[in-house]
Amino acid sequence: MKTAEEYKNLTIQEFTRAADVYETDKAGLYEMCKDDYPYIAAELANEDYEDLLDCGCGTGPMISLLYENDSKKNYTGLDITPKMIEVAKEKNLEGVNWIVGDCENLPFEENSFDAIICSNSFHHYPNPQNFFNSVNRVLKPGGRLILQDYTAPKIILWIMNHIEMPLANLQGHGDVCVHSLKEMESFCNVAGLKVEKLEAAEKGRLHLVARK
Ligand SMILES: C[S@@+](CC[C@H](N)C(=O)[O-])C[C@H]1O[C@@H](n2cnc3c(N)ncnc32)[C@H](O)[C@@H]1O
Repeated sequence: MKTAEEYKNLTIQEFTRAADVYETDKAGLYEMCKDDYPYIAAELANEDYEDLLDCGCGTGPMISLLYENDSKKNYTGLDITPKMIEVAKEKNLEGVNWIVGDCENLPFEENSFDAIICSNSFHHYPNPQNFFNSVNRVLKPGGRLILQDYTAPKIILWIMNHIEMPLANLQGHGDVCVHSLKEMESFCNVAGLKVEKLEAAEKGRLHLVARK
């Protein structure tokens, strides 16, 4: 078992290596992240918002898509890997805030965002409850968290968490844990967020929408 700092250092090393190719067709296993972008965009489109935070934004593919559609909203992308943020900044999207920071301790004032999105980043967090508590703090009342990650039936989760993730760690990946729907519901409840959608979708995807 690694410390939280060791996991985060592994994550930073992993995505420092990936940053230059992340949005190209040479992204390898990260290619599958792209499948989630239309789903998140559709979910966001259900309600109006002004201030959006992308937690674990990487090089900012999701913010780029949203910006193309509406460049007037206030977008903030936060990521723990400085190189990912460096590549995001090179896009020169005027007015977008790119910040190096930790999703477990979001560096914003209370009640700052109407919408927070988080895709394919959550399974890297060693203290998942801290993330949800932090999201609840910085969401405006009535604001939404839209989160995409992996989940699986109990036995598969055990194999992923006890075999697949430690093997990935040995290969220099910062994956920590994949959670059940029940655990996700409990994180939301403890943080004070109301679950509006929580489902296991095809290809092991987890969809969560929760509201402050
Ligand atoms: C697979 S990428 C996903 C990027 C983007 N959200 C997407 O869907 O394409 C995971 C990202 O989460 C970031 N990350 C992992 N742990 C983090 C943490 N504790 N705080 C902020 N970012 C984190 C990584 O640096 C990486 O850029």
